[in-house]
Amino acid sequence: MIEAKRPTINWMDALWLMFLVVLAVLPPRTEPHKQLILVAFGVLQLSENWLVSRLPRRGPSYVVLIKIGLAMLLIDHTTSVYEPSINSVYYPIYYLPLITAAEYFGSWGTLLWTTLASATYASYLYPALHPELREFEIGAESYELLAIRILFFFLAAMVVNRFVVESKRQTQRYQELAETLAETNRRLEQAQAEARRSERLAALGQLSAGLAHEIRNPLGVIKGSAEMLSQKLKDSSPLAIELAGYISSETNRLSSLVTRFLDFARPLHADLAAQDITTILDRALHDVATLWRGQPMRIDKDYAADLPLVAVDEGLCEQAFVNIVQNAFDAMSATGGVLRVRVSTANANGSDGVEVRIEDTGPGVPLELLEQIFNPFVTTKKTGVGLGLSIVSKIMDGHHGSIRVEDASGGQGTGARFVLFFPTAAEGVGAKKSAHLVIS
Ligand SMILES: Nc1ncnc2c1ncn2[C@@H]1O[C@H](COP(=O)(O)OP(=O)(O)OP(=O)(O)O)[C@@H](O)[C@H]1O
Ligand SMILES: [Mg+2]
Repeated sequence: MIEAKRPTINWMDALWLMFLVVLAVLPPRTEPHKQLILVAFGVLQLSENWLVSRLPRRGPSYVVLIKIGLAMLLIDHTTSVYEPSINSVYYPIYYLPLITAAEYFGSWGTLLWTTLASATYASYLYPALHPELREFEIGAESYELLAIRILFFFLAAMVVNRFVVESKRQTQRYQELAETLAETNRRLEQAQAEARRSERLAALGQLSAGLAHEIRNPLGVIKGSAEMLSQKLKDSSPLAIELAGYISSETNRLSSLVTRFLDFARPLHADLAAQDITTILDRALHDVATLWRGQPMRIDKDYAADLPLVAVDEGLCEQAFVNIVQNAFDAMSATGGVLRVRVSTANANGSDGVEVRIEDTGPGVPLELLEQIFNPFVTTKKTGVGLGLSIVSKIMDGHHGSIRVEDASGGQGTGARFVLFFPTAAEGVGAKKSAHLVIS
């Protein structure tokens, strides 16, 4: 992989420039082409990072190619006219393109560039081998020398490349480690926030339980008094009877609110027995539909045959279904709609059980609420308390089941689907045996 470097001048660049200046003052000093080539090397070195950052894909190839070209020119201008260019003492200038290639490319890329650089260097054999071009003679010794130089090119390139690859690998390892640490840190912070929230909720739960308990008794007295008052004033004052009726109905409302607070805050007692879930579901559907006074609703049922029994507390389960169905009816209250209820066998987290899907054609759960819909006191309703689904979630946890909410429209933003899973009744909790459970 080719990595773009930061377009800055670093101390390595300064060192390179110093190296070029020293080369410039070494013989041959009066050869202007040599000095120009060294200046070109300097400019390329300074602009290399910029070029690579602008052209991350092709930039490194351009840089290596230009350096090879400059190296070729340099050795051609650093020999006397009586000597073949291949004899130039400046041949180590080829290490510059080779090291650059080793820095930017993988092993194969480095090998290819080294072969190309060696070929361009060896190409100076051509005039030496053709006496009609220039009259030079090359002996066997010179060939051996050339072979040694080229072998060193490969050696240096591969050593640098190994070092660069290893250092890149280390950097990547550290990066991955840093990412893992950041992720762990994020999770830890999330868990801490969750724990703080749970603490606050627990405190709130205790407070509401205490408060609700205290409110309940006076409420009973108010309700009883209102009923007695309406009995006493039965024939004398219709206005007083009406007012007493208000007191009684509002007290009922408050009383049911207090009951819900208590359900949420105090531990629930569940008597588990193997039950047919559809019977409980039918009862909940009937309860909500009977009390519904809004637009007409249609209920579509689709129950699989031969469903296994599940170990549940009938009352709590019915309450969970009522809460969900009531929410669905509320959601469709403006126009009426269809409630689809599907019950089938399913497997979740490795255990067999029954899945209940309750789906409506209402506006669906707002996206920003999806994450927190099962948290207490989350509500979008004017008269809602936001406890219905948190109670359902508590009941499902107590039954070792699960509940999740989905967008029923598959992205269209209409309709909510609640999916509940109940594990099959264990051997111990058969039709005859039952188990008592405290859900806190
Ligand atoms: N079927 C649904 N379609 C759309 N939104 C829903 C649906 N069910 C629940 N919601 C949203 O989730 C919120 C929380 O529901 P939850 O039952 O916990 O509280 P609530 O219905 O507002 O009050 P209550 O405590 O009286 O039940 C609702 O206010 C509503 O915004
Ligand atoms: Mg509700």
